[in-house]
Parts: sequence; structure tokens; C-alpha cells
Amino acid sequence: MSFVLNPERDEKLREILERYPNKMAACIPVMQLAQDQTGWVSPEVTDWVAETLDLSTAHVLGVATFYSLFNTEPVGQHQVWVCRTLSCALNGADTVLAHCEKRLGIRCGQTTKDGKVTLRTAECLASCGSGPMMQVDRAYHENLTLEQVDVILDRLTADSTPD
Ligand code: FES
Repeated sequence: MSFVLNPERDEKLREILERYPNKMAACIPVMQLAQDQTGWVSPEVTDWVAETLDLSTAHVLGVATFYSLFNTEPVGQHQVWVCRTLSCALNGADTVLAHCEKRLGIRCGQTTKDGKVTLRTAECLASCGSGPMMQVDRAYHENLTLEQVDVILDRLTADSTPD
């Protein structure tokens, strides 16, 4: 089945295309727009982006696989990225990650059985002065304690809406 943007995102697509000097330059925001609707860059999304921007599917796939913000496989309703780079590592990122794995019953890179949470690590998320930190969907959670992690994960596993 081919991919179609919903009407609200279709309007945003028009705004994006007006903002860029050519279609190729709009590849990342257009792919982000589609991923926001589907949760991941499926083969149908890849074909749609390529067709919409007059690009090859190989080009679109190259962009999707280069940037970690794009999901090239299905993910959970919520995505948790624990920063593992130096400042966060020195402030306990390993402990936060291990705690997340234990609480969620999954390993890093996996999705919970109920499809609610995908757990990953990230390289520096540019919040180095407030580690350990993690990004949950589009929100930063900084200066984390394990108690705060519990509150966040409890909310995610109970909730079905984006953070
Ligand atoms: S090292 Fe974690 S945000 Fe920079």
C-alpha cells in the first residue's frame, strides 16, 4: 500500500518545499514529516519521499540510514535515548541505561513486547552540563536520578501518547 500524508502534514509539506532552494535540499525535513506520521521510514515512505522530491530511492535510503534520527525499522510508541558520551558517562549513564534495561525488561536496541518503548543509546545530545541525561521522544530529561528514571518510565509504559 502506498504512503499518503494526512491533510495537516500535506499542508506542512507545501510550507517546507517553499522554504528550500530545491527539492533535494528538503529531503531531511520531508522525511521527518513522513516519519512523524508512521513512526519509521518504511519502504513505502522511502518511495514516497523519492517520488515527491524527484530523487532516487537509493539517495533517500542513504539519508535515512546515515542519520540516527530516522528509524529504518518499526519502533515503539515512545523512544528513549540514553546519552552515553563522555560527560554523561562520567556522571552515571551506564547505571541509567542498566536501570532502564532492567525496568523495561529489554536490552538496548530492543522494543518492549507491548510496543510502547524502544530503548537506545545516543552520542552526545548537546546537554553535557546536565548529565546523565536522556531524550524521550522529543523531550530532554537531565540530571537524572534513578528515581526520576522510574517516574519517566512509569509514565511511558502507562501512556499511549507521544511525550
Ligand atoms: S555527553 Fe551527554 S549530552 Fe553531551
